[in-house]
Amino acid sequence: MGRTANWCQDCLHYWFDYETPKTLVIPDIALGCVFRFTQLLVVLYVVGYVCVMQKAYQETDSVISSVTTKVKGFASTNTSDMEPLFWDVADYVIPPQGDSSFFVLTNMVVTSKQTQTRCPEFPGPSTTCVDDCDCIEGLSDPRGSGIQTGLCDNYSSTVQTCEVLSWCPLEIDTKLPEPALLAAAENFTVLIKNSITYPKFKFHRRNIVPHINSSYLKRCEFSHSTDPDCPIFRLKHIVSEAGEDFQEMAVKGGVIGIIIDWSCDLDSWAGKCYPKYSFRRLDDRHPVGNVAPGYNFRFAKYYKTPDEEDTRTLIKAYGIRFDVIVFGTAGKFGIVPTIVNMGAALSFLSLVPLVCDWFLLTCTRKRDLYSRHKITYLSDDAEIESMSMGTAYGTQ
Ligand SMILES: *[C@@H]1O[C@H](CO)[C@@H](O)[C@H](O)[C@H]1NC(C)=O
Repeated sequence: MGRTANWCQDCLHYWFDYETPKTLVIPDIALGCVFRFTQLLVVLYVVGYVCVMQKAYQETDSVISSVTTKVKGFASTNTSDMEPLFWDVADYVIPPQGDSSFFVLTNMVVTSKQTQTRCPEFPGPSTTCVDDCDCIEGLSDPRGSGIQTGLCDNYSSTVQTCEVLSWCPLEIDTKLPEPALLAAAENFTVLIKNSITYPKFKFHRRNIVPHINSSYLKRCEFSHSTDPDCPIFRLKHIVSEAGEDFQEMAVKGGVIGIIIDWSCDLDSWAGKCYPKYSFRRLDDRHPVGNVAPGYNFRFAKYYKTPDEEDTRTLIKAYGIRFDVIVFGTAGKFGIVPTIVNMGAALSFLSLVPLVCDWFLLTCTRKRDLYSRHKITYLSDDAEIESMSMGTAYGTQ
């Protein structure tokens, strides 16, 4: 009974104890050095990393952008079975809108004078046949060339295959022209017009920066070293900056990224805000173990023959697609992020006493004395205690 009362008294007693910090001044050179050094580290972190590198005093906004492109250049092909022999932008840029992603045709397989009739399939395990029973009328294999008619036909003097309803003659795309037909595309140029906005800061810019005048624009060509602001790019230069060979890439096609970095510091003392261009290949670049390399698609041009029959020219187009990718973040001084981030950074100063206390209680010579002084419990006979401690301090 008595013990419980005692215990209760004790716990109430501890619960209502009040703790207050007391200042101990310790004249110790090593400890002083640790103290100042730790403070210095925190201040360096705040100034060097938070302010200078992270620019934590800034508000940020991300870029909104629009891109239009215009390709220029001519090429001629000297293969007779192909039209046109002369190529301009309307022939080789598909689609023609001048989008932020544009395709330049560099190579192709042309199948001309196709009409909708019946013809034997290419020979293969599922298409060779001996008689009509091997072919199923109405079967359409997505990997085949058309819808089977149920007849078995002579593909050549030795092979028979199922007949299909399709655009005949069928396209043979197993052999690609090499070098690429439009090798001259390497000398085409593209003008990239890019306008950007940082809506939060009401900041607008174009990549045709103010100091570019129209006569410079007529003759300039982008180069990192000599013309870093010129918005006209030679396709060969783009591809080689991306680490690829244009003629090699032109054969099977591919995808190249034109990356425009608009990261800006809009504070008046930082001054400049200009686009930075870089280039990289975006599709899989390694031909080894790459089963379906490059980039291609098909399109057709339709005609009517004099005797009212529909014919078409099918083109399997290989080429390079250029994707213009714009990114960027702008920063500008703001009072709210300054206060919030400085407060957060300076709270690291509260770690300084922690480090110093640890040093004080483990590394100094008089650590026993200091640890005795660090916490004083003032009980009822505190005066006697403090007197005895005072003498102890005096004698040591
Ligand atoms: C591209 O232009 C350069 C110089 O103007 C020329 O030497 C080169 O042969 C041209 N390339 C093609 C494929 O025509």
